Formats: sequence, C-alpha cells, structure tokens
Amino acid sequence: MKKGLALVLASMMMGMCVGCGSSAQNSEVASRDASSKSDSVAENNGATEEMKTVAIVQYVEHPSLDTIRESIIEELEVKGYVEGQNIKIDYQNAQADQSNLNTIASKFVGEKADIIIAIATPAAQAAAAATSDIPVVFSAVTDPLSAKLVDNLESPSGNVTGTSDAIPVDQTFELCKELTPDVQKIGFLYTASEVNSQSVIEEAKTLAADYGFEFEESTITNPSELQQAAEILAGKVDAIYTPIDNGIASAMQVLAEVGKNAGIPVYVGADSMVADGGYATVGIKYEDLGVKTADMVAEILGGKSVSEVPVATLDQFYKVINKQTGEAIKAPVDVEGATIVE
Ligand code: TRP
Repeated sequence: MKKGLALVLASMMMGMCVGCGSSAQNSEVASRDASSKSDSVAENNGATEEMKTVAIVQYVEHPSLDTIRESIIEELEVKGYVEGQNIKIDYQNAQADQSNLNTIASKFVGEKADIIIAIATPAAQAAAAATSDIPVVFSAVTDPLSAKLVDNLESPSGNVTGTSDAIPVDQTFELCKELTPDVQKIGFLYTASEVNSQSVIEEAKTLAADYGFEFEESTITNPSELQQAAEILAGKVDAIYTPIDNGIASAMQVLAEVGKNAGIPVYVGADSMVADGGYATVGIKYEDLGVKTADMVAEILGGKSVSEVPVATLDQFYKVINKQTGEAIKAPVDVEGATIVE
C-alpha cells in the first residue's frame, strides 16, 4: 500500500504517467528514478530510457584481465550500450586484496547497480556473496562450479552467470611432448588457495599418466614464496606447469627467471604469462572472452533472465611461444601455427 503510494507520488513528481503502456514497468522506472537516478534519464524514440549502472570489479591489475575489461567495454558499445549515453560504468580494481573486494562489492550493491561484471574468480565470489538479486556476470573464472558460483552451467538457477577461461590441459601436454620430448617429470606449481588452479591441477594429475609423465606438486600461499618454491621444484623436475593462477601470474617474471636459470621449460595457462617470460602455452584470446562476456551482459540488460544465459567457454585455442625464453633454454621457437612473442 505504502509502496504503491510512494510510486505514484514519485511518478507524479517525475512528470511521468503511471498507467501509460505497461504500468508495472513504468512504476519500476519511476521508483528507481526517484531514488537516485532522476538526472540520468535519456530520451530514446519517445520512450523514456533509464541510464543503467554497469559496475565492474576486477581482482587485480594484470594484462590478461585488463584486456578482458577493455574488450567488454568495446563490445558493449557495439551492442548499443555506450558509456555516458545509456550506461554509466563504475570500474573498481581490488589490487589483489580480499577486503577491498568485499568493500567494492557492497558499495555496488548499496548503490543498486543494474548489473555487476566481476573479473577473475575472487572478484566473482565477492560479488556473488554480496547480492542475490542484482545479476552478476563473471569473466575469466576457470572453474565456476568448483568456485560455487553456479550450480548448473546450462541454466544457472541464481543471479550469477558468465564466462570461463578454461583451457584443455591435454593440449598443453601435447605441446610439451612436441616441443620438449625429453621431459619425463613435470612440476605442478600453483597457489594453494586458488580454486581456479586446484581444479586444473586435479585434471593434470589425472591426465599425466596418459602422457607417461611423472609429476611433483608444489604450492605457495602467496607470491612472495614463489622464488624459493620454484627453485626447489626446478631442481627436481624437467619442466614446470603452472595454470591460470592469479598469484603466480602476478610474479611471473620471477618464475620465468628460475626456469631460465635451471634450463627447463615453464608451461603456463595464459598468453600474458608467456609474454612475461614463460616458455609456452595453449591458451585462449582474452579479447574473445571479453566479447562473449559483454554479449551476455547485453542480453541481461535487454531483459533476459540469468537462467536463460548459460555459462560460456571458448573453443578456440592458440599456441604461444616466447622466443627469448626458448633460446635461453635451447628449446624450439619456430613452431608452425604458433604465435611467437619476441
Ligand atoms: N582464471 C583466473 C581465475 O579464475 C583469472 C585469470 C584469467 C588470470 N587470466 C589470467 C589470472 C591471467 C592471471 C593471469 O581467477
């Protein structure tokens, strides 16, 4: 009763007509405008269109994650969602800090963002924990099921969907056989707390036997431990494999140096980690992931419900090899079909 009256009053103040067109829709617009967005109403073909807030939370500054964010914003424009015209983008970076993530997520919820885009697993988990009604579209989450972001990839039952950057571990193992056929024992190196790495390493352990690889596992709790852990591991194995791990990626140069000094290849999960000195990967293009993510955001802004927008993964993978690293460890650098980082 009270709410209805408030809506009518708000609509009158806004000079709008409850009962014109779909009253439910108009009431909703009126109530939102009355709360805070009265200055951001744009006219579009005679219909009143509300300026929507697209909130973006990114876990850490990193080339792959920056690429995704930039690609999302570009593709949103292609889909007709233009910053300053019909959307307002509120971008926040948590600088790899969990308490920043929580603060940002609750700020977005407090400000009633229309949609939250969350880049990387920790950001997605913070956004999902902060709201059960604002749609959350994640990007670059390697394993959305293990991260407990969705219960069903095809038809998520909650308010959360998005894109995964999962890559096939078997193709990385194939690449290892092709480029460095003498490798017998691989060291799996990752951050113990990162669920996105845990599930990939589980898969790698299962697959290793099929490829005749032995393995040794080593985990770190934070990037400051990387140097020592990598040196110890490098002394025991013929190659190191590290998945798309936020902590290791942030200190990738350290791992790359250890690999070069030990003369062993470091296989990684992302092209940016090759650019930072890793030897090789079979990875996705993060631009493509950004485009896919933005398309899903556009669908939801356009009225689709989250359950109608399945989690997406990419099926195009690219070989990337670092020339300097390859030369330093005397491994091949001119490989057909591979992108070479100079
Ligand atoms: N896949 C990581 C996650 O699930 C995020 C990520 C994507 C990433 N690409 C990266 C991390 C490159 C470091 C480097 O959280």
